[in-house]
Amino acid sequence: MNVSPALSPLDRPTNSGEVREMFNQLAPTYDLLNTVLSMGLHKVWEQRLVDALPLTKTDRCLDLCTGTGALVPRLAKRFQKIIGADISPEMLAVGKRRWSTITNCEWVEADAQALPFEADTFDAVTVAYGVRNLPDPERGLQEMWRVTREGGALAALEFGQPRNRLWRAIFSLYSSVIIPRIGGLVSGQRSAYRYLPKTSASFPCGAAFEELMRRAGWSVERTISLCGGVAFMYLGRKVSGSSDCFDARRQES
Ligand SMILES: C[S@@+](CC[C@H](N)C(=O)[O-])C[C@H]1O[C@@H](n2cnc3c(N)ncnc32)[C@H](O)[C@@H]1O
Repeated sequence: MNVSPALSPLDRPTNSGEVREMFNQLAPTYDLLNTVLSMGLHKVWEQRLVDALPLTKTDRCLDLCTGTGALVPRLAKRFQKIIGADISPEMLAVGKRRWSTITNCEWVEADAQALPFEADTFDAVTVAYGVRNLPDPERGLQEMWRVTREGGALAALEFGQPRNRLWRAIFSLYSSVIIPRIGGLVSGQRSAYRYLPKTSASFPCGAAFEELMRRAGWSVERTISLCGGVAFMYLGRKVSGSSDCFDARRQES
């Protein structure tokens, strides 16, 4: 597995089939729990991710690990065509029903590590909380790079670990105690809601995630820490050299 050496395989998914089954089970209650457990914050972060993409109405965007299509309505306003791809048919089924009035989105069942798309197909790729679920995250980022056209953009949202010790301790308590309890109670899948925070707690964030992106071929344009490092937004581009897509600044919010 081609990931950061700091990463323990024990905290990583090893099998895409198991991950697919887990999300199939979570699908019916996923959106409710997402809103409750993030206290609505995920919507703010999703909007920021979409706002950070280059503005165009003529392009094609791949929303990878789309799940129930949380990003789809926002992306649908900015792109001519959206492909929402995910490995879990149940998550996709909820998304299709949820966003049935959105006509410029196509839903595709696909493994992010072996995408069924030609090279250079998309003008942008988005992926929210998906990369850490891949047994081989670098392979997934390489696939995103392959299907993106030269000059195209990547916008990824992923959980991280806060740097401030007190904040990290509070967030860790919330993740390891509250999330599995509430998640387990509502979904009946407590082990899944232990897996989700556990994978976040050990997954490369900040500079380590940027390194994964670079190894996969991406030029890193900007990294934004959200809520003191609870999550990060990573913006990249498929070119080496200078950027006209994003403002190459680091921001903290
Ligand atoms: C935490 S959910 C995020 C869903 C959505 N992006 C959101 O923001 O709500 C992670 C998603 O990644 C999908 N996933 C996991 N492994 C995958 C893989 N190998 N290929 C494609 N999708 C995958 C899961 O089925 C799930 O829908």
